[in-house]
Amino acid sequence: MNDFVKIVEVGARDGLQNEKSVIHFEQRLELLNRLVQSGFKSIEVGSCVSPRWVPQMDKSTDLYAALEKPEQVNFSLLVPNIKGLEAALQVGCKEIAVFTAASESFAHKNINCSIDESFARFEPIFALAKQHNIKVRGYVSCVVDCPYEGAIDPQKVAMTAKRLFDLGCYEISLGETIGTATPIRVRQMLQACLDVIPVECIAGHFHDTYGMAIANIAESLNQGIRIFDSSIAGLGGCPYAKGATGNVATEDVVYLLEQSGFQTGI
Ligand code: HMG
Ligand code: MG
Repeated sequence: MNDFVKIVEVGARDGLQNEKSVIHFEQRLELLNRLVQSGFKSIEVGSCVSPRWVPQMDKSTDLYAALEKPEQVNFSLLVPNIKGLEAALQVGCKEIAVFTAASESFAHKNINCSIDESFARFEPIFALAKQHNIKVRGYVSCVVDCPYEGAIDPQKVAMTAKRLFDLGCYEISLGETIGTATPIRVRQMLQACLDVIPVECIAGHFHDTYGMAIANIAESLNQGIRIFDSSIAGLGGCPYAKGATGNVATEDVVYLLEQSGFQTGI
C-alpha cells in the first residue's frame, strides 16, 4: 500500500474567497506563513481572477510576491484566462491551476462561458505555460451534483477530466463543489475517471455541506486516490454555489489519514 497522501491546502484560496468580510492582506499573509510552518508542501495562495467577480482574492499576486517561499513547498495560483497567467508570471509563479466544470450551467455562473469556451481559453494558457515551464493543475467542478442542474453523469465528469489531462494538466482535482455526494456516488464517479486517467493524477476535492466529506475521502482512499484538497478549519464554499458550506477541514483529513496508517508530513 502506498502510505503517503499528498494534501493540497486550499484554505487561503477556496476558503477565503467565500468570506463575507474582506480579510486584510497582512492576515492572509500570516495565514499562509503559518501553513508553511505547519509542514504543508502544496499550498494554493489565491487566485488571479476578476476582482469584480471575487473581490476577496484581489492582490493575490502581491501576496504571492510577499510570501517567503521555501524551495520544498509548491505554491500555486488559480487562473481563469491568459490575463490571469500573465499576472501570475509577473510574480514568478511556477504553478497554476485552471478550472472548468462538468456542468454547463455552473460553468456559465462561475466563469461566464460554456465548457467548450473554457477549453478554448485554456489553449493559450497551456502554450504560454509550456514556454515558461509552468506546471498546470486542473479542476473540474460539480463532479457529482450541480446546484443548477442536479445530478451529473459520471461519464461527463470523466470526459471533462480527460480533456484537461490530454491538454497537459499533471493533476486533475475532482471538485465535489456543493457537498451533497455520498460514498456510493463518489465511487461511481471515480470509477468512470479511473478508466481514463491514471490514479496518481487524480485528486479529491470535497466540500462538507452534509458532513459527508470524510466518508467520501475514505471511499476515495479505497479507490486508490492518494491526493486530497482541504481547507484549514473547514473554511470555504463557492461564491457561485449558493448554500454550499466549507471545504473539508484539513485537520479532520489529517486525523483520518494518520489514524488509518497514512503519512501526510503535516
Ligand atoms: P467576464 O466578465 O466574462 O470577462 O469574466 P471579461 O474578459 O469581460 O472581464 C471582465 C473584467 O474582468 C474586465 O475588467 C477584465 O479586465 C477583468 P473591466 O474592463 O470590466 O474593468 N479580468 C480580470 N481581472 C483580473 N484578472 C483576470 C481577469 N480576467 C478578466 N484574470 C472571468 C470572466 C473568468 C474573468 C470571471 O468570470 C472570473 O473572474 N471568474 C472567477 C470566478 C471564481 O473565481 N470562482 C471561484 C473559483 S472556482 C471554485 O471555487 C471551484 C473549485 O474550488 C473546485 C470546486 O470546489 O468545485 C476550484
Ligand atoms: Mg472548492
